[in-house]
Amino acid sequence: MSDAASGPALHPALHTRFCDLVGCRYPIVQTGMGWVSGASLTAATSCAGGFGILAAVTMTADQLAEAIGAVKERTAHAFGVNLRADQPDLADRIELCVREGVRLVSFAGAPTKDAIAELHGAGVLVMPTVGARRHAEKMAEWGVDAVIAQGAEGGGHTGVVPTSLLLPQVVDAVGSEIPVLAAGGFYDGRGLVAALAWGADGVAMGTRFLLTRESRVPDAIKRPLVVFGRAPFAFYVAHLYVIHTLAVIFGVMQGFDAREFLTYSFFFPKGYGVGLPGTYAVWLLVVAALYPLCEWVAAVKSRRQEWWLSYL
Ligand SMILES: Cc1cc2nc3c(=O)[nH]c(=O)nc-3n(C[C@H](O)[C@H](O)[C@H](O)COP(=O)(O)O)c2cc1C
Repeated sequence: MSDAASGPALHPALHTRFCDLVGCRYPIVQTGMGWVSGASLTAATSCAGGFGILAAVTMTADQLAEAIGAVKERTAHAFGVNLRADQPDLADRIELCVREGVRLVSFAGAPTKDAIAELHGAGVLVMPTVGARRHAEKMAEWGVDAVIAQGAEGGGHTGVVPTSLLLPQVVDAVGSEIPVLAAGGFYDGRGLVAALAWGADGVAMGTRFLLTRESRVPDAIKRPLVVFGRAPFAFYVAHLYVIHTLAVIFGVMQGFDAREFLTYSFFFPKGYGVGLPGTYAVWLLVVAALYPLCEWVAAVKSRRQEWWLSYL
């Protein structure tokens, strides 16, 4: 894989504490996105000078081991793995990351104190995603190495506080102790400059990487988004409603995980710039068509989720 991680001198503002911490050239993280960031995307990001993170929440332990091996075959640069504290085999996954010399483990939400201790004991960095100032303070108290401050623009999973309000709060609260990465709505150079101006140490982006060649999003979904990206919203609704509904039905019949398709369906409206109301309108259509399936997904999720607040 070609390596753009070295090159002409950068403006000093682009070399932040985070670059030194994880050993990357640009203060740009490609986040662990379930079903999207596999070995190719992670390796390509780290090779290009950013910091790639493997999405392991949606991988089995065996798949994770294979993906880590595949990243290491493609690049010698540092990369990370994304986990959740409530995964039943978390200890095994941590052991695997330690054994494989993974540089950093990011957490969707809060890690446990035990997980932090175990990872730190082996020299692995820990970086949770936070959606409120208090969460950042708590994580800094627990000794994490960096935080991703993710505003509601990042999909709403970490709370409703917009990036523009959350980021300065988190920077003020913990920025003197640990690097803070800005997430939720960043997708280009001016966003990076804005994040740095807010006092962040870089950006962590998800959606921006969905349509890259290396992302695991199927070409059948990427292609219409690229082709119709600027078409009227009606095109999008027609495409999503008909094609994605069929994709889910046939996918389930063929034994694929329905949540994978639902994830794609949910996040793609952002690529059309329809904003949150448009996103929810589309999502409602899909939910109406797939209501029984969604009920099952919700039941599975509620059994598994351990919310932030239970740590506070
Ligand atoms: C398709 C998709 C899947 C995601 N899956 C995960 C995940 O498994 N774990 C996680 O911590 N964050 C996940 N996220 C959130 C991203 O890691 C990231 O924080 C967010 O996308 C940042 O906002 P942006 O998309 O506006 O750049 C996901 C995001 C997307 C778009």
